Amino acid sequence: MDKNDLIRILQDWNFWQNELQTGVPRHGYLKRIQGFLKTNQVITITGARRAGKSILMRQAAAGLIREGVSKSNILMANLEDPRFTSLDVKLLDEIHQAYLEFLAPKGQIFVFLDEAQEIKNWERWVRTMHELRKAKIVVSGSNANLLSRELGTLLTGRHLDVTVFPLSFFEFLEFNTVVVKDKGDILDKQTEIKGLLRKYLELGSFPEVGLSEQKREILLSYFEDLVNKDLLRRFRVLKQEELRALAKFYLSNVATLTTFTSVEKFLKISTSTVERFSGYLEQAYLVFFLKRFSFKVKEQEKSPRKVYAVDTGLSNVVGFRFSENMGRCAENVVFLELKRRQALNPELELFYWKDVHHREVDFVLKEGLKVSQLIQVCWNVQDFKTKERELRSLKKAMAELECRNAIVVTEEFEGTEKINGSDVQFVPLWKWLLDGAVEHG
Ligand SMILES: Nc1ncnc2c1ncn2[C@@H]1O[C@H](COP(=O)(O)OP(=O)(O)OP(=O)(O)O)[C@@H](O)[C@H]1O
Ligand SMILES: [Mg+2]
Repeated sequence: MDKNDLIRILQDWNFWQNELQTGVPRHGYLKRIQGFLKTNQVITITGARRAGKSILMRQAAAGLIREGVSKSNILMANLEDPRFTSLDVKLLDEIHQAYLEFLAPKGQIFVFLDEAQEIKNWERWVRTMHELRKAKIVVSGSNANLLSRELGTLLTGRHLDVTVFPLSFFEFLEFNTVVVKDKGDILDKQTEIKGLLRKYLELGSFPEVGLSEQKREILLSYFEDLVNKDLLRRFRVLKQEELRALAKFYLSNVATLTTFTSVEKFLKISTSTVERFSGYLEQAYLVFFLKRFSFKVKEQEKSPRKVYAVDTGLSNVVGFRFSENMGRCAENVVFLELKRRQALNPELELFYWKDVHHREVDFVLKEGLKVSQLIQVCWNVQDFKTKERELRSLKKAMAELECRNAIVVTEEFEGTEKINGSDVQFVPLWKWLLDGAVEHG
C-alpha cells in the first residue's frame, strides 16, 4: 500500500496528532500490563468479545505517554480497519516502514496490534520483531483466533497473557462513580452498593452495556455477533442452528450440571458434535466449564461439568428469566470473580465437589496440592431446610478434603456457624466481591 495512505489510516488510531477516547481506566489490568511491559516478553490481550480489549490497549499506550514515552515511539494499528488492503505479513512490514519514516522515533518503540488475527502468519512477524528487539509488542484480538495453534508453537515461552473479563463488581462500581477504597467505605456506601449489585446480576457487566440505555438490545447484538463472527465464520460450522441452540442451552443452564450425553438427548445433537461445539463456545469465551474435584484425574474428566456464562446479562437476555434465577446468577458471578482471581494466581485451580449421596459444594479452590478453600453459594439462607442441606454438604466436603477454610456466600445473611470445629463465615455477596477486590488490589 502507498505510504501516505498508510499513514493517513494510522493517524486515526494513534496519539501522534489526536486525543483518542480512553474511557474509564481499568487499573487492575493496567498495572498488570505495565508490569509485563517491563519484561522481555510479547504481551497478548485476549478475552471475550466486547470485554474492552481495544480500549485497554489504548489506556496502556496512554499510560506510557504519561510516564514520559514520546507519542511518536508508540505505533498502534487496528488491523480490522477496512481501509487496509492485502492482509498479509507484508502489510505489517509496510506499516512498520511507513511509521519509521514518518515519525522517525528514537529509542524504545512500542507496537500495539489490535485484531492481529486478521493477518495471516502475524505470529511470525511478531516473533521476528521480538527476537531482533525492534519493539516491545502488545497483541490483541478476539480470543478464538489468538488461541490458534501457531501462537501456541511460535510464541511459546515468549508471551505473557492478559485475559480481559467484563467488569468485576469493583470496576462496575467505579464505572458508576462509586469508589470504594477500604472496608470502611464498603460499609458506608452499602445502600448504593446493594442497589448496583442487583443491576450487576441482572444486566451483567460488559462496559458498554453499563453505560448505555439500550442494554437488552446491545446484549442481544453481542450474542448474535459472537455466534456469527467468532463461531460460525471462524470455525466454518455447517450445523448453524445446532450450534446456536447449544449456545442458548448453556446460557439457560448456568450453574447446572451437564454431560454431553444429556445435552445430546435434549437437543438431538450427536455427542461428538456437542463436544466439538462446546470447545468452540469455550474458546470464544462465551462459556466456561467447571470440573468435579477428584483425586483421580480420570474421574475428573469423566464427571458431568458445570457450565457458567462469561456474563450474567447474556444469560438473562438469551437464556432465562432473571427473577426466577437470581441464585444461579449469583453463583455465576462468584465463579467469574474466582476466574479473575485465578488469572492473577496461576497456582489456583477451581472445581466443584459432589459425592455419591448427591451432596454438593459449589466451589473447591485448590492451590498446589492443597485444597485451600470451599465456597458454597446459598441464596435462600432464610429457608432453614436449604441452609441445613448446604451445611451438611459443606461439612462432608470439609472432612473429606481435609479443609478447614469454608465460607457461605449469601444474599444478605451474615454470621458464623461451627462445623467440624471450624468457624464457617456467612458473607453477603456484595461484601465478598468487594472485600476480595480491596484486599487483592
Ligand atoms: N474502560 C472503558 N471505559 C468506557 N467504555 C469502555 C471501556 N471499555 C470498553 N468500553 C466500551 O465497550 C465497547 C467495547 O470495548 P472494546 O472495543 O474495547 O472491546 P473489545 O474487547 O476490543 O471488543 P471486540 O472483541 O469487539 O474488538 C466500546 O464501545 C467501548 O467504548
Ligand atoms: Mg477490539
